[in-house]
Amino acid sequence: MIAAMDIQITKASRSRINEIDFNNLPFGKNFTDHMLEVDYSDGEWGLVRIRPFQSLVLSPSLAALHYGQAIFEGIKAYRDPAGNAFIFRPFDNFTRFNISAARMRMPAVPEELFIEGMRKLVELDRDWIPMKNDYSLYIRPIMFATDEVIGVKASDNYKFMILLSPTGPYYAAPMRIYVEEKYTRAAPGGVGFAKTAGNYGSAMQVTAEAREKGYDQVLWMDAFEHKWVQEIGTMNVFFIIGNRAITPDLNSGTILAGVTRDSVIEILKELGYSVEERPIHIDEVIEAHRNGALREIFGTGTAATVSMIRELTYKDYSMTFDTGTWTVAPSVKSLLTDIREGRKPDKHGWMFKV
Ligand code: COI
Repeated sequence: MIAAMDIQITKASRSRINEIDFNNLPFGKNFTDHMLEVDYSDGEWGLVRIRPFQSLVLSPSLAALHYGQAIFEGIKAYRDPAGNAFIFRPFDNFTRFNISAARMRMPAVPEELFIEGMRKLVELDRDWIPMKNDYSLYIRPIMFATDEVIGVKASDNYKFMILLSPTGPYYAAPMRIYVEEKYTRAAPGGVGFAKTAGNYGSAMQVTAEAREKGYDQVLWMDAFEHKWVQEIGTMNVFFIIGNRAITPDLNSGTILAGVTRDSVIEILKELGYSVEERPIHIDEVIEAHRNGALREIFGTGTAATVSMIRELTYKDYSMTFDTGTWTVAPSVKSLLTDIREGRKPDKHGWMFKV
């Protein structure tokens, strides 16, 4: 149970909800009427405020802008057919948020602040949760360093915020990706497991090069050999080989521990697949494709949910798939969506009532 917490609420004088086209919601473009904000200084978190969504006034010397002490999370809220609002596995994102915070030498955010603050904010803006299949309210908690000093050291001051953004599907169509051999996302001992801003900033050039070549994203490989599968930009990756679902394990500390990844592992098991979390060598993928055992490849993520990969290219070897004939990714996605949207029972206790 979350302790009661004082939250100072200032409501927007007028809602912007009627200005939004709920049939066209590009990811992360629209924000709800309110946001949550709290500052950390002198070793403690201050007053929690919910106020109208607005710009911030920040010093150009803000530490986060210079040295990247900034972390975030991605979570989604849904409504069931009766209109009740639920947040999907917020406690798992809370745990991961503080794992990221510790790695970036940032303070932990207390559970009641993260969960009850989020619940209250979603409750206030619950009318913004889309009720269309595959649409949801994307929740973006963020923390960043707010010292106004450009000396290189861990900041003493931080800001924690939660933003809400009604959103449609992230990747509209099955994707084309290639195995990235030039760039590296993460190495052991680095920050690959943390949801820190720099992990995404350093991928921008790589994704842009992929787009220039006609691909959507890259499949990141290990830092030493570029042979061991890590993750796809913004998603964890699964291979269906025969009746086995295989996904890279998290032991190297170079892969984000996706909450959707974990949910999909549970759902795959429920659907009768044996799930293997272990290192995957690219030669194993190629071999499985050559002998006809590689049935499907898909990515999982909060924003992306379950996204099918219609092409994976390694050097000059291209593996293409007719995703229209696939059964695993579509059934995983539809079961997950049904649980989230309240059409199937929530046996795992994933849905947190707002
Ligand atoms: C998410 O899936 O929530 C992410 O954070 C990935 C991306 C949109 C940044």
